[in-house]
Amino acid sequence: MIRPASRWMTRCAMALLLGGSALASSANAQDQAQTDTAATLHADTPGATVDRHIFSQFAEHLGYGIYGGIWVGPNSKIPNIKGYRKDVVEALRALHVPLVRWPGGCFADEYHWRDGIGPRANRPVRINTHWGGVTEPNSFGTHEFMDFAELIGADAYVSGNVGSDAPSAMEEWVQYITAPEGALAQERAKNGRKEPWKLPYFGIGNELWGCGGNMRPDDAAGITRRYATFVKPPYGVKIQKVASGANGPDTNWTEVMMREAGKQIDGIGLHYYTTPGETSGAPKGRGSATTFTEVDYARTMAKTWRMEELLTKHSAIMDKYDPARRVNLAVDEWGIWTDVEPGTNPGFLYQQNSLRDALLAAVNINIFVHHAERVRMTNIAQMVNVLQSMILTDGAKMVLTPTYHAFDMYRPWQDGTALPLDLPKTWYNREEWTAPAVTGSAVRGKDGAVHVALVNIDPTQPHHLEIALTGLNAAQVSGRILTAGRVQDVNDFATPARVAPVAFTGATIRDGKLSLDVPAKALVVLDLR
Ligand code: AHR
Repeated sequence: MIRPASRWMTRCAMALLLGGSALASSANAQDQAQTDTAATLHADTPGATVDRHIFSQFAEHLGYGIYGGIWVGPNSKIPNIKGYRKDVVEALRALHVPLVRWPGGCFADEYHWRDGIGPRANRPVRINTHWGGVTEPNSFGTHEFMDFAELIGADAYVSGNVGSDAPSAMEEWVQYITAPEGALAQERAKNGRKEPWKLPYFGIGNELWGCGGNMRPDDAAGITRRYATFVKPPYGVKIQKVASGANGPDTNWTEVMMREAGKQIDGIGLHYYTTPGETSGAPKGRGSATTFTEVDYARTMAKTWRMEELLTKHSAIMDKYDPARRVNLAVDEWGIWTDVEPGTNPGFLYQQNSLRDALLAAVNINIFVHHAERVRMTNIAQMVNVLQSMILTDGAKMVLTPTYHAFDMYRPWQDGTALPLDLPKTWYNREEWTAPAVTGSAVRGKDGAVHVALVNIDPTQPHHLEIALTGLNAAQVSGRILTAGRVQDVNDFATPARVAPVAFTGATIRDGKLSLDVPAKALVVLDLR
């Protein structure tokens, strides 16, 4: 059965898929929108559970993502808890981060886990050949990561080295982390941890089509079958094995992996980054994080909206091989990837984070919620100081990015039940770039309340909504809004709260209808009781 929300998403995706004629289609959709004001929240036909792991993060040995961002060491002057930055730990705990993926990324297929155990002073210093050619001290290793995940209350997702290590290394690493007894458990205890850690997810390499070994799909599927065989948890314990997934639109990768290795895995990844593209009038590159025109903005939003099409296509392939939807489509790297901040190391991927990026995150989260039956984990890239991060640090200073605030506003979605939400089909267009102006999602949270998220990417005009509530007798509505003067606005160390959520009082419920103007360039999250 196609739910109303899915029908809406399908129509929006269709317009984008039509390529050259997309704008014409969207113009039709716009005409319709003027008459089609019907919007409905179907609380009486609940959908899938929104797995909290949809809000997961990714922390790689890259730039200041780990060193300086999370780990400063116990002797640092920066306030820390056993070496972890206190401010960062507190911010992440407050966010209820459900899971962290580590140690990469491309770093994972160069990482030899034995380098990162034992007394820190004895660990080898290596070169991080993939990211900046800088030294890797290995002072943040298995114990530091697993303890960090526990400290912030998150599950661990460790990516193994398929590209440059043997299956036995992977087998021993998993045992070292999870075994209750035996030689590897004793070694772990000697290194300070008697109890096994929980390891609910394990990645069978990363980007095997690229930095993980430049493999062809058939070779990667064969290798995945082989390596996955040796990821062996203790008796009675389950580890979900996640295969290295496709590069964006490469559906053949998903097809071959599902066909050849689908029975050996519990999840398959998908990596899709939104690259804004050449900034108007600026030198060629991925596009600036902070200086962009409205056309650049529209291009970015149209490109990010492509996630809907990608999930639909990859899911359809997975449905062929796995109609029961046992295998999770894990979007284990996503987010906006811009040029680095001027003057910073190009290998460190340090970029600022604007209101645009928070709205982009919200658009993607709404898409993930609509695909919640198949998409049960996603990992924004990355957690601190790298790409679309939650947090930026500079020495002892820390700032929460607009994206952090968007994630915070979606906290009630974690393990909630998706409720279909039909919205009018209005489109935002600039030149050839088009994307839905207003997207949304809704859940019945674990707290029993209904939560509705609405994001208006249109930077110039508000959108009025009247949403009929079916199967819901709510009388009160309260909420928060994330917006700013300009979509380019950022939080920096001088003005850390320029973009931060405030109370939203512009919504009312009357005669079974929720009414509001969603302001221009804003994310609004409402609680209905
Ligand atoms: O997140 C940065 C890099 O992007 C990751 O290391 C890699 O998997 C991807 O190409």
